[in-house]
Amino acid sequence: MNDLQGKRLVLGLTGGIACYKAAELCRALVKEGAAVQVVMTEAAAQFITPVTMQALSGQPVYTSQWDGREANNMAHINLSREADAIVVAPCSADFIAKLALGRADELLSLMCLARPIGRVPLLLAPAMNREMWAHPATRRNLAQVAQDGATVLGVGSGDQACGETGDGRMLEAAELLEDITAFLQPKPLRGQRVVVTAGPTFEAMDPIRGITNHSSGKMGFAIARAAREAGAQVTLVAGPVHLSTPRGVQRVDVTSARQMLQATLAAVPEADVFVATAAVADWRPASEAGEKIKKDGSGQAPVLAFTENPDILQTVAQGERARSGALFCVGFAAESHDLLAHARAKRARKGIPLLAGNIGPLTFGQDDNQLLLVDEHGEQELPRAPKLQLARMLIAEIARRLPGNLPA
Ligand code: C5P
Repeated sequence: MNDLQGKRLVLGLTGGIACYKAAELCRALVKEGAAVQVVMTEAAAQFITPVTMQALSGQPVYTSQWDGREANNMAHINLSREADAIVVAPCSADFIAKLALGRADELLSLMCLARPIGRVPLLLAPAMNREMWAHPATRRNLAQVAQDGATVLGVGSGDQACGETGDGRMLEAAELLEDITAFLQPKPLRGQRVVVTAGPTFEAMDPIRGITNHSSGKMGFAIARAAREAGAQVTLVAGPVHLSTPRGVQRVDVTSARQMLQATLAAVPEADVFVATAAVADWRPASEAGEKIKKDGSGQAPVLAFTENPDILQTVAQGERARSGALFCVGFAAESHDLLAHARAKRARKGIPLLAGNIGPLTFGQDDNQLLLVDEHGEQELPRAPKLQLARMLIAEIARRLPGNLPA
């Protein structure tokens, strides 16, 4: 999936040991389809050579405002006019101070100052020692550059190259890629709050065993990521899955359906959208043994009794907030056959405006999926595609159905 196809990025490197991560970031951006123009300060070139960055970006690197390759000798103007964004990674404390003052004594800062401020966003990935990060001067300068329109991507925490431990480390290349990709996505859910359930539930029968299902959580996690990319504040209520949390998403881990219901009910009173992607177990063992159920040697298997689990989606859809129209609920249906008929019936039964149907065996654990959207007007197919791409389409469909947005 080429998330950055057709995007033109300027990748600026300033002096810091994190320059080695910028090489990986450059490679990742190019792999996603971006055209990357690298610009390095003199200090950055002490840490990594322009040769490396040229090889990875496939384009000559600029290091000086006096570069004679530009016909008009105005690299700072030419390179920034066409860019979709300028990303400075690593961005040193000194460079942030320079930006805060509006200084422009070398090519990269000159370009940042000369960029058309309303059209070319500036993203900063700070990288520095924890004391420098915490210093009041850095705090002041960061507040200033943010006020001047720059987006500060945050920092990592942990072991630092200097041997100290704390905040200030540059984010990893994969994290920066996710943040940059998110930044460049359209924002139809800006300011909205979205709650997503994802994954299976696990219903214990004793401390060792239980019943669950094959849901991987991938679709729900992709929806949470897509909602965050679209500008929403996202809470992801996740059953037991082996997936990393999408950046910028608040995750609440649960195990059973009842826990998932509690976590969801705690989150939806503030929400504008609820997407129930989780494959919630319909039943749970009627009682949970305090100790492991042992074979007793009789050859008789234990008889298990089941109790029905609460229907989380239906509970939320019947709540005051959903009925008043303040909370838009979206359900999923995983079927094995007759998708359309089942999807229509399920939408009506659950009392929700939008339902996404999919074929269970074709989605569980897969990276691709296809969806059949059913609403009051009819149905619409979202053809087979990677789950993140489908999730973005679904989020766009949800956004245009929200109160205040005109139907397409
Ligand atoms: O009735 P069924 O399980 O097929 O409905 C699927 C939809 O309902 C999904 O959106 C699922 O997340 C939601 N659901 C739920 N709680 C349950 C069962 C299903 O939220 N106990």
